[in-house]
Amino acid sequence: MGTVVAGLEGVVAGVTRISRVEGDVGRLSYCGYDIVELAEQCSFEEVIYLLWYNELPGRKQLREFVAKLMAERPLPTGLVYTMRTLPHTTPPMDALRSCVSLLSVYDPEDPLDTGDESNWRRAFRIMAKLPNIVATFERLRTGHEPVEPNPTLGIAANFLYQMTGQIPNDLSARAMDVGLILHADHEFNASTFSCRVTVSTLSDMYSAITSGVGTLKGPLHGGANQEVIKMLHEIGLLDRCETYIMEKLNRHEKVMGFGHRVYKNGDPRAAILKKMSRMMGEQAGDLLWYQMSHRIEEIVWREKKLHPNVDFYSASVYHNLNIPHDQYTPIFACSRVAGWIAHIMEQFSDNRLIRPVGDWVGYEYRPVVPIDQREAQPQAAA
Ligand code: ACO
Repeated sequence: MGTVVAGLEGVVAGVTRISRVEGDVGRLSYCGYDIVELAEQCSFEEVIYLLWYNELPGRKQLREFVAKLMAERPLPTGLVYTMRTLPHTTPPMDALRSCVSLLSVYDPEDPLDTGDESNWRRAFRIMAKLPNIVATFERLRTGHEPVEPNPTLGIAANFLYQMTGQIPNDLSARAMDVGLILHADHEFNASTFSCRVTVSTLSDMYSAITSGVGTLKGPLHGGANQEVIKMLHEIGLLDRCETYIMEKLNRHEKVMGFGHRVYKNGDPRAAILKKMSRMMGEQAGDLLWYQMSHRIEEIVWREKKLHPNVDFYSASVYHNLNIPHDQYTPIFACSRVAGWIAHIMEQFSDNRLIRPVGDWVGYEYRPVVPIDQREAQPQAAA
């Protein structure tokens, strides 16, 4: 039996050409391109293309790619009908997880055909429909009719449009776009790994994406951004940051949005989002969220030497985009699905069942005692 590595920390679980995390130097790159340059110069659509085909597109390739994605935006009527029946209290991440699973029954491909061609067609469908599902559920749960996708808008602007019914200004659309680029992939993170585990059994893409959404939901992963905004609301005033964070740390609680399994010298995505957070605050004429975040960053660094991660400043960016707080993690999913799909296709291309072993720490072998001769066990009686 090998050594048990808690949380699989540092364990190399496979090879990949999609994204590279260099935790020691605080760098993230997609297919060889630094995330900082991609966020400055590219659109989310170009980044999806890159993650899927390992190259940035030319103009013609991008036009055709975007057209294919746009054609897949509309949702199946039956799915929207089902969404109307969901209780308005359904957490959006639960609605998304259920809808992704349900999408599979409307997929026109032969379910037994898991070949590359049909999988790529599924990839376009899932990628294009996820933001529509999130926006449509937001409309329905707030008592509004869904907004049809706008074919003149890219993924980021169209998402904000479908959520609110209003075309966003350039800065808001760009902030959304950058947010989507920065969350699109992150090597063998927990949700991506669960997608890979799912298809390693030769299960299908919808099942894998459903696993991904379920895994992303947890507060130690994609759910942290919602916890960050909850915390900022609880604090409410710049002057309360010090007491609030110190009390939290004294209770040995984690400050959400800080720390990272791999980046021990800072998460490069957080630095970009920090600038965005400030710009969005200036646009809104309300810098409080940025200022509180910055103050908390100083305190956590002083006390714990921990850096903010991607979830920390994305919270104040999304807040200034007027996105409801429980939609932050579903938005993360709308971005990360680009990476999930790339990893699913990579796993399929050179698959071996992922099946680790456990180190036995339970009872040694013992014979089964007939039921009438067994003594009642305390836990059985409880
Ligand atoms: N606040 C306070 N202390 C922290 C924090 C934090 N956010 N993160 C880590 N620590 C402390 C731990 O208490 C622990 O201290 P100890 O050794 O005295 O017990 C030490 O730092 C190591 O922490 P671990 O949780 O063991 O580190 P791990 O690598 O397992 O966890 C994780 C990384 C899960 C991200 C952790 O830092 C955390 O829980 N952060 C808060 C949640 C969060 O922001 N998640 C989003 C991550 S990014 C993403 O998934 C997109």
